Amino acid sequence: MGKSSVTVNLAVALASQGYKVGVVDADIYGYSVPRMLGADRDPVVIDNMLVPPSNHGVTCISIGYFVPEGQAIIWRGPMLHKALEQFLADVFWDEPDFLLIDMPPGTGDIALSLSQYLPRGEVFVVTTPQPAAQKVAALSAAMAAKVNLPVKGVIENMSWFTGDDGKRYEIFGAGGGQELADELDVPLLGQLPLVPELREGGDNGNPITIAQPDSEAAQAFQAIARRIATEMKPKKVFSAALKVN
Ligand SMILES: Nc1ncnc2c1ncn2[C@@H]1O[C@H](COP(=O)(O)OP(=O)(O)O)[C@@H](O)[C@H]1O
Ligand SMILES: [Mg+2]
Repeated sequence: MGKSSVTVNLAVALASQGYKVGVVDADIYGYSVPRMLGADRDPVVIDNMLVPPSNHGVTCISIGYFVPEGQAIIWRGPMLHKALEQFLADVFWDEPDFLLIDMPPGTGDIALSLSQYLPRGEVFVVTTPQPAAQKVAALSAAMAAKVNLPVKGVIENMSWFTGDDGKRYEIFGAGGGQELADELDVPLLGQLPLVPELREGGDNGNPITIAQPDSEAAQAFQAIARRIATEMKPKKVFSAALKVN
């Protein structure tokens, strides 16, 4: 749990470090990025391109901009595919350094579509410390591997809650993130505390990373963002087909 919160906070952390960042909200049924990012203006159409709204230095596209509030829409497989395609092809992203995709719960269809549009995509798995969550996250990782999206790291969320007594309480257990990372043979990129302010920041469009930059959670997001931008930096890929003779 915490995929969307982690996506949004990492996005604003990367933006604050000087990168150009976009977020695609690929959760068609349970979209939440516009609210969490506080990006609630609608996209603007210019020259057949959708110009996505932005806030806190992060641009964002979401199905939430296109469906009337509170209305349930049934998406068939091909429509889902088409919506994602448009998010990637018809939106003016302006060459971002990072395009973060907030995935829906579960796996399946969306991962498959994305792997076709973003063949060089990379996956970061968010998990909580207890074994049950770890199993779910492991399944997502297995799905990513099936569609050839490499898993690059694990982020553990809700790792502890610090009480008024200053003690850390491991409400959801301990060790799950590291175990999953070991199992997938990737690094555990960081651990995020359980803090009410993180939820509040999501509810009011003021991510904690921006709202309380000195907090433990904000510092953890900044550190994870730095690791992703430096040590995990995507390698430049040179295609043989583009070789100049
Ligand atoms: N570390 C955390 N501390 C406090 N609340 C959190 C934390 N991570 C997530 N939440 C809250 O839990 C709820 C679910 O998180 P969300 O990011 O939407 O998860 P997902 O995208 O995986 O469904 C949200 O209300 C969010 O604000
Ligand atoms: Mg979500």
